[in-house]
This record gives sequence, structure tokens and C-alpha cells, in this order.
Amino acid sequence: MDWKNKIKAVIFDLDGVIVDTAKYHYLAWKSLADQLGIPFSERENENLKGISRMDSLNFILSLGDVQYMSQDDKMKLAISKNLHYLELITDLNREDILPGTLEWIQECKDNNIKIALGSASKNARRILESLDLIDQFDVIIDGTNTTKTKPDPQVFELAAKGLGVKASESVVIEDAYKGLEAAKNGGFYSIGIGDPEILNIADINLRSLSDADMNILEKL
Ligand code: G6P
Ligand code: MG
Repeated sequence: MDWKNKIKAVIFDLDGVIVDTAKYHYLAWKSLADQLGIPFSERENENLKGISRMDSLNFILSLGDVQYMSQDDKMKLAISKNLHYLELITDLNREDILPGTLEWIQECKDNNIKIALGSASKNARRILESLDLIDQFDVIIDGTNTTKTKPDPQVFELAAKGLGVKASESVVIEDAYKGLEAAKNGGFYSIGIGDPEILNIADINLRSLSDADMNILEKL
């Protein structure tokens, strides 16, 4: 069946799909982990993709010998990590949009496909503004709208609800395994951006959005 009769919406993840902020998240978490004397490398960082700030902090603390920490102290650490992260992304601009993104957005518009953002980040709107992309989205659901984190499908379900489409008519584009699990759990189609061996639960795998145009959806 022609994909144009099947697909009504595309839901983009932000970090790692539209913009490569993952490296800045890593640098900010790494510096916090160093301060706390917790060993933390890019390998462990893979687990943080797609999960919330607090869940990320709890994961890092679990890697160290931290017996107990009050909620208040955890909050302070999360705030300090975020301030550092925001410093690192101050200069983010249109040139940081990952290859293929603008073409996919344009193709969605040309084919009357609705566009939503489905991100765990509480900084999503600020980042979309820096990239001058905020007006392109029909619906934006981010970490300020959700109570459950990926692999729970809530973020994508809210996006589909906002767009007035069904999960089965929507494609989620994700770089995180947990994000792809969330898509699957909600009954969404998915495209995994990155290593196909890691992202082996996606319906379609691409190294980058620039590797295909929307006709790749014919494979669904
Ligand atoms: C995205 C990233 C995660 C990040 C999360 C929360 O999902 O992949 O690495 O922890 O957003 O981001 P925030 O900007 O709210 O700290
Ligand atoms: Mg991501």
C-alpha cells in the first residue's frame, strides 16, 4: 500500500535526531560524575539517551558508591548539571541541525503529513528556538508535559492526541533504544537513527535522516 495512504504524522525525537546535543549532555554529566568521583564514560552514557534528567542522575549515582542522597541534594546536582549543559549549548544555531532534518520536514509539509516533537527534554522549546525550528511543529510535547519517561509511550501518545491521529498512522523517529521501545509499546511505526545493531527494534534503520527520503516509508 502507498505509504501516503497509511501515514498521517511524523513524531520527531529531538536530541540525537534533529540536533546532536547528546555530546553536550555527556560532557555536562561527565563533569558532574568527575566531581563526585564516579567513573563514567561514553559507554555508560548510551543508557542515558532518551531518559529524563532525574533518571539520568539516579543512574549515574547508581554507578558510584553513593549510599544515600536526599531529594534536595539530588535536585541541586540536577540543576547544576543543567546550568552547565545550557552554557555548553549557548551557541547552538541553524547550522547545528542534523543533515536530512530540514528535507524531511519539508517533505512532510509537501505531503500534508503533520509534524510533532516528542522529547524527554525540558529544554526542548529553547533548543528549537535556537535552531529557528519552533514554528515548524504542529504539536510539541516535551519533558514539561509528561509524567512518565520512555520506554513508556506517553510522550508519543500525547503528541498523537494533539495532532488528532492514531498511533498506527504515525511514525516515530528516534536515536535511543528506549525511545524505540516507547514507540513499539504505543503501537507506533518507528525509524531508528544510528547503529542498526543497537537499534534493532526499529521498523526501519538509517544511519542518518540524510540517507533516505520519505519514500523509505514504503518499507513499512
Ligand atoms: C533527551 C536526552 C537525554 C536527556 C533528556 C532530558 O531525551 O536524550 O539524554 O537526559 O532529554 O533532557 P533535559 O534537557 O531535560 O535535561
Ligand atoms: Mg534522542
